[in-house]
Amino acid sequence: MDIQEIRNDTPGTQFHIHLNSAGASLQPIPVIEAVHEYLQEEALHGGYEIEAARKENIEGFYPAVANLLNAKAVNIAFASSATEAYNKALSAIPFEEGDVLLTTDDDYSSNQIAFLFLQKRYKIRIVRSGKLPTGGLDLESIKNLIEKHHPKLVAITHVPTNSGLVQDIVGVGALCKQHGIWYMVDACQSAGQLPLDVEKIGCDFLSATMRKWLRGPRGSGFLYVSDRVLQAGLESFFPDLGGANWIGANQYEQLKNARLFEYWEKNYALVIGGKVAVEYALQIGLENIESRVGELASHTRQQLAMLPGWKVLDLGKKKCGIVTAHHETGRPSQFSQALKKANINAGFARTVNAVIDFTEKGVEWAMRVSPHYYNSKEEIDRMIEVLKKG
Ligand SMILES: Cc1ncc(COP(=O)(O)O)c(C=O)c1O
Repeated sequence: MDIQEIRNDTPGTQFHIHLNSAGASLQPIPVIEAVHEYLQEEALHGGYEIEAARKENIEGFYPAVANLLNAKAVNIAFASSATEAYNKALSAIPFEEGDVLLTTDDDYSSNQIAFLFLQKRYKIRIVRSGKLPTGGLDLESIKNLIEKHHPKLVAITHVPTNSGLVQDIVGVGALCKQHGIWYMVDACQSAGQLPLDVEKIGCDFLSATMRKWLRGPRGSGFLYVSDRVLQAGLESFFPDLGGANWIGANQYEQLKNARLFEYWEKNYALVIGGKVAVEYALQIGLENIESRVGELASHTRQQLAMLPGWKVLDLGKKKCGIVTAHHETGRPSQFSQALKKANINAGFARTVNAVIDFTEKGVEWAMRVSPHYYNSKEEIDRMIEVLKKG
């Protein structure tokens, strides 16, 4: 990986030390140009006309995402956000009163809200797995809970938004397969950061965004849908012209591929931008990205652990590019202002972003530092200097 070349390809690195890839990372030139060019063509020639003229390019989105996941193009749907993808998938599970949804304490906040909505509307029960002493889901607990409750769905967030933890989604997948349970993975914080292989994971749905570790534009994401889901004919609330055809006054027919989970209207500039971002990541290689991001994140953890007053909060045997830390006496605004003044971008989260996790850790806020492969150790050391002065 030629870091200098990659930084030259990333204009944002000239202006900021951007350590907020878990929020949205900096886009590389090919992504920026693809989006600009498409928007310009739309403005000059008309949205529908350019969609027709660029059909082949737009269609390239599906095989590109499929390559990223070791899937087939027919199993990929475009979504405007990870949440849209996730909620569409969730709405396709045929829940009935009393059904159990098995998840974890560390699943994403919006997903937890959606589960609570399902609990309110359909009277399902939410069961959360036990944790290992080192943090992260306990496979033994998942196995026992599956045997006890026979859940309708198991839903796991691969990398929680506010913790460096990496959950064992392959281990959970094997258990779901053994028991024939629908299995949904939120890969929003791992797509583009860690290699993903849906065959190995064994999931029925996997959702993600482009704007975080994939370095794509905001407003684009995707949903993987398994053959098992397609064969079972599951469909989401609500299908529209994008996912179904109205074939008679009282009849519609759903598409036979994953695109039955799409809406008709899309921002095609972002579809193309997403495609280019995925191709860019694949060219660099997900193993290379994982190793470089892991190295920078461990350096960040080591440096933060040595800073007086700071405590690194990340748990789990396997950790990734999200580093969270808390200062025992300081206020988040004090640190965010100091970082902003020094042109350093990092994130700050509050309890509402991770109610169970932060309550257990006894903190009300955490700083979230998420370096990507285009960052350097020198940039992290500069952030540490700024935090030291506080
Ligand atoms: C783990 C996880 N899942 C889902 C989401 C939601 O993604 P989006 O904002 O694209 O809907 C996020 C966003 O931070 C996330 O961190």
